[in-house]
Amino acid sequence: MSRKRMIYEGKAKILYEGPEPNTLIQYFKDDATAFNAEKKAILDGKGVLNNRISEFMMTRLGSVGIPNHFIKRLNMREQLIKKVEIVPLEVIVRNVAAGTMSKRLGIAEGTQLPRAIVEFCLKNDELGDPLVSEEHIAAFNWAQPHEMDEIIAMALRVNDFMSGLFAGVGIKLIDFKLEFGRYFEDETQRIILADKISPDSCRLWDLETNEKLDKDRFRRDLGGVTEAYAEVARRLGIIKESAGGAEIVDIKSGGK
Ligand code: CDP
Repeated sequence: MSRKRMIYEGKAKILYEGPEPNTLIQYFKDDATAFNAEKKAILDGKGVLNNRISEFMMTRLGSVGIPNHFIKRLNMREQLIKKVEIVPLEVIVRNVAAGTMSKRLGIAEGTQLPRAIVEFCLKNDELGDPLVSEEHIAAFNWAQPHEMDEIIAMALRVNDFMSGLFAGVGIKLIDFKLEFGRYFEDETQRIILADKISPDSCRLWDLETNEKLDKDRFRRDLGGVTEAYAEVARRLGIIKESAGGAEIVDIKSGGK
């Protein structure tokens, strides 16, 4: 690993140069951060779980026709991905009020929204990822209007698919964050889903008890963070329980 050239280090991942042109290796760290990295911890095994959960989601999304950067998982912590130019937006889809939406608009956490709501935040840690409108995005050229149409359509399709997938395993998809990138191939350019999908970037509540199975356990000091991520992986069939705790079972990586 040390011989690979590092391209970028984020809060929960590292990107290395990939083995072929137009590819990168995405490495999942155990680091957990919240509140714009004011709160930090190392959670043993989180990276391994997120690598598998993100592989599972991206593979499933690819199989229903949502183009994404995932090529294949390489090992416990790394996956091969397509190199993209990241659109500098965090695209948030919400089904139920929580987090900053509840705070900003005074809507009680847990309130079902009348329809899925898509929000955009500028990816800028120094500014604390501020909420922006499509007017800002067009005026400052962060993305073209036709790219925004594709991003919104894809985000809503991801929401429909993932809501159903999670409901099937007894989990309510409250909200989540996506990132998109421009993929250049044969002189054409298209928008594809990028980054990662894991309980770090989704709110997932148990359908019956509303128990939180996501990063809010870390943000709000509820404990059992990795255990909750493992529970999500177990329900999705990615890992099975064994006498010694959670054991990762092989799933077909597909999506190659
Ligand atoms: O997470 P927080 O309460 O700060 O912000 P939010 O806008 O309520 O987050 C909505 C969803 O996007 C949650 O599932 C977050 O985990 C996710 N998110 C993220 O993954 N990364 C961010 N920088 C902001 C939000």
